[in-house]
Amino acid sequence: MSHQSLKGKVSLVTGASRGIGKAIAAELAAAGSDVAVNFVSPSSEDKAKQVADKLVQMGVRARAYRADVSDIAQADGMIADIVRDFGRVDVLVNNAAINRDKTFMKLPREQWDEVVRVNLGGAYNLIHALLPSMVETGWGRIISIVSVVAQMGNFGQTNYSASKGAVMAFTKSLAREVGRKNVTVNCVAPGYIETDMTAGVPEKVINHVKDITPIGRLGSPEEVAFAVRFLADPRASYITGQVVAVNGGMYM
Ligand SMILES: NC(=O)c1ccc[n+]([C@@H]2O[C@H](COP(=O)([O-])OP(=O)(O)OC[C@H]3O[C@@H](n4cnc5c(N)ncnc54)[C@H](OP(=O)(O)O)[C@@H]3O)[C@@H](O)[C@H]2O)c1
Repeated sequence: MSHQSLKGKVSLVTGASRGIGKAIAAELAAAGSDVAVNFVSPSSEDKAKQVADKLVQMGVRARAYRADVSDIAQADGMIADIVRDFGRVDVLVNNAAINRDKTFMKLPREQWDEVVRVNLGGAYNLIHALLPSMVETGWGRIISIVSVVAQMGNFGQTNYSASKGAVMAFTKSLAREVGRKNVTVNCVAPGYIETDMTAGVPEKVINHVKDITPIGRLGSPEEVAFAVRFLADPRASYITGQVVAVNGGMYM
């Protein structure tokens, strides 16, 4: 049995119905945290409920909450529901994100805005709502999932990489503002991870990624989740404003 370092804490993981978010929810529950499982698509409701049920079987409190993180009213409504059910949120994991890949010359303004609204605007909505209570409590963890493409750039992902790079810069500035309140603010930057988001990537591109990755394969959601658990741990109290890369060495 692993060390229950997050026992008594409450975590919110956005976009936890599948992929990396689902693995993060399981990892935080394994550390003893209660978990709010966020999702947005009506078609993901059953999946999100199954994720929550599995966490309950692990011995923590868990529940699924539907909200579009890019909509401030929906984000606020979800947080009110979570506070009603669990009392507060100690660990926020900004994981929900979308991509709308196109080369820049073909990229309509709507798809630029859509990606920025979810990936960057969603981070604003959740952090702005939850930070006051973390500061008041004198303890908090904010962890945002960014991407190696914010560090390296990527063909066809100007909108997505800009949104992720903005979250990295936001993280560093916010870390400076709230460090004295024992609220740490960090990012985890995954490389290519096997999820729905990469399922449509052409085999040629995947093979190229494997070629330029020292570990020689794609990563798993669990490998990303472990880095999130590490940053959420009370013992990670002197780590803030950092970007932890989980990319198999693809970018150093
Ligand atoms: N996969 C990779 O290789 C990779 C690499 C680097 C970074 N990342 C980042 O890692 C995170 C997770 O990626 P993933 O591959 O696990 O993605 P995914 O499989 O596409 O899952 C996305 C999750 O986000 C949720 N979501 C999307 N838009 C939302 C919104 N507006 N409000 C609330 N929830 C929303 C989805 O909910 P529904 O199920 O309800 O649609 C789903 O749970 C993202 O931040 C992504 O940018 C992924």
